[in-house]
Amino acid sequence: MNKPRLRGDYSRAALDYSVEQDWAAYTSAEHALYRRLFERQSKLVPRYACPEWIAAIAGLDAALQIPDFDQVSKKLRARTGWRIVAVPGLIPDDAFFTHLANRRFPVTVWLRKPEEFDYIVEPDVFHDFFGHVPLLFDPVYADHLYEYGKGGLKAMRLDAVKMLARLYWYTIEFGLMKVGSGIRAYGAGLLSSGGELAYCVDDPRPHRRAFDVERIMRTEYRIDRYQDGYFVIDSFDQLMRETAPDFTPIYARLRGLAPFAADAA
Ligand code: PHE
Ligand code: CO
Repeated sequence: MNKPRLRGDYSRAALDYSVEQDWAAYTSAEHALYRRLFERQSKLVPRYACPEWIAAIAGLDAALQIPDFDQVSKKLRARTGWRIVAVPGLIPDDAFFTHLANRRFPVTVWLRKPEEFDYIVEPDVFHDFFGHVPLLFDPVYADHLYEYGKGGLKAMRLDAVKMLARLYWYTIEFGLMKVGSGIRAYGAGLLSSGGELAYCVDDPRPHRRAFDVERIMRTEYRIDRYQDGYFVIDSFDQLMRETAPDFTPIYARLRGLAPFAADAA
């Protein structure tokens, strides 16, 4: 999940992997590509995004160009105490968890290439910003992610990061939510995807199981194709409540059990 690779420029990163965003260095071609990505998703989100995400995006003024992280951080700090920290790309687990546990969300500075318009393997600024940042304005989601960060540092001590990473995958990245009008997406990997956002809600093929912490922690996942199944929460309150118990005994118990394959998700 958070293994550094070579794509970003890590040479200027601080010990916590933060960098300057250097907003002035983005080219007009990059701003234009970002704007096209934003436009495509904007047509989908009214139908497929959860209400909390929709409520937040309007106040962000992020449609026309790659956002200036410091400006957004000012708004975010006032609302939920979070801020954005610019990073060169994926960062190691300990650095990632430490940022979350201090209410700092790492956002990649670089934008994908035009030929990656439909598909990108690593998170870029569009995925990180469009998918993750709006939900940080929701107080319950924001508190949950802070608790996740602390839980991550604890999972490192308990050698259980793999299990906790599955929880992140099936919630923060690919989670679905039940709302009055049906199923909606809150996972950032869905919200920023041109194809999977409609697929995860409308397609009859994937499983859509009720949220289940232990099942999720036992379920493998694929990073290279649409998910075989999704887990559905009723609300961020439910997510908060059901992840609140001490995971230590759960980790101990699940460690001895064979995982479910991704296609059993
Ligand atoms: N309750 C978890 C633990 O004891 C911490 C956690 C909270 C993990 C929220 C994920 C989300 O480790
Ligand atoms: Co993400």
